[in-house]
Amino acid sequence: MSENLRIGIPSKGRLADLSKQLLQEGGLCFRRQDRSLFARVKDMPIDVTFLRTDDIPVLCSEGAIDLGITGGDLVAESGAELDTRLCLGVGNCRLAVCVPDSGDVRKPADLDGCRIATSFPRVTREYLAKHKTTAHTVDLTGSVEVMIALGVADAIVDLVETGSTLAANHLRILDEIGCYETVLVQNPNTPHTALADRIVRRVEGVVIARTYSLLEYNVPSEKLAEAEKITPGFNSPTVNRLEDDAWHSVRAMVKRGEIIDIMERLEELGATAILETAIANCRL
Ligand code: PRP
Repeated sequence: MSENLRIGIPSKGRLADLSKQLLQEGGLCFRRQDRSLFARVKDMPIDVTFLRTDDIPVLCSEGAIDLGITGGDLVAESGAELDTRLCLGVGNCRLAVCVPDSGDVRKPADLDGCRIATSFPRVTREYLAKHKTTAHTVDLTGSVEVMIALGVADAIVDLVETGSTLAANHLRILDEIGCYETVLVQNPNTPHTALADRIVRRVEGVVIARTYSLLEYNVPSEKLAEAEKITPGFNSPTVNRLEDDAWHSVRAMVKRGEIIDIMERLEELGATAILETAIANCRL
């Protein structure tokens, strides 16, 4: 067993840069040399190891790494026993049963006898068992969306993000199996629990900072209660009385994805000097 805590992150693909940034913004200073598998973290008993994203769940449950960043979909498919410590607010997708646009499959029971192409056989079989259908899986590692056109399958189970892959292949969603996002997982038996907790808190600070902005504005005192409903903050907004009794100033954390809509609603309410400030890091 390594003396150091090991964090496994994807070596390539869309999650590689994000994982590196989250750790580095959380104060873990490391540099990957060429295509090396390990990087030592400066001044901390931690090694970062660069792995295939889909191997991270099983390597974490087997104790090769103590913490790992990977897709929640891959954790579900692996069946590995892991503690999900944090959802990272990115990589949101749905795993769905999809059928041809023009077909007559209308409900899960209609899948009886069908061949279902998927790279998520474990989750798919659990779904099929739950719905007591006699469909069986055709297990593949990718490109499942073309398998119906190739005559290999009658339906597919695949990830859907924007839905453009489905549209391009004349498919529609029959049923959703689950929603997933990128997660930070932990081996439940890690001996490095205190250090793992510290890393989780650091990454959490970065994730919250990326997810929220700080919104400040002035609002007529008689509209304060309504404004607080629009910006309830993470826990509670900070409210101050202005020199002019007719006005209050409010400061609250707001989800970045909702900020424009909220600014418009506040403006309609009569708020002025509405300012958004990015949060670099935080502890809440
Ligand atoms: C995933 C998934 C779909 C596509 C869905 O593939 O398998 O093909 O994304 O996204 P959309 O709804 O936005 O079109 P990915 O790009 O991860 O590559 P993969 O085929 O290697 O899984």
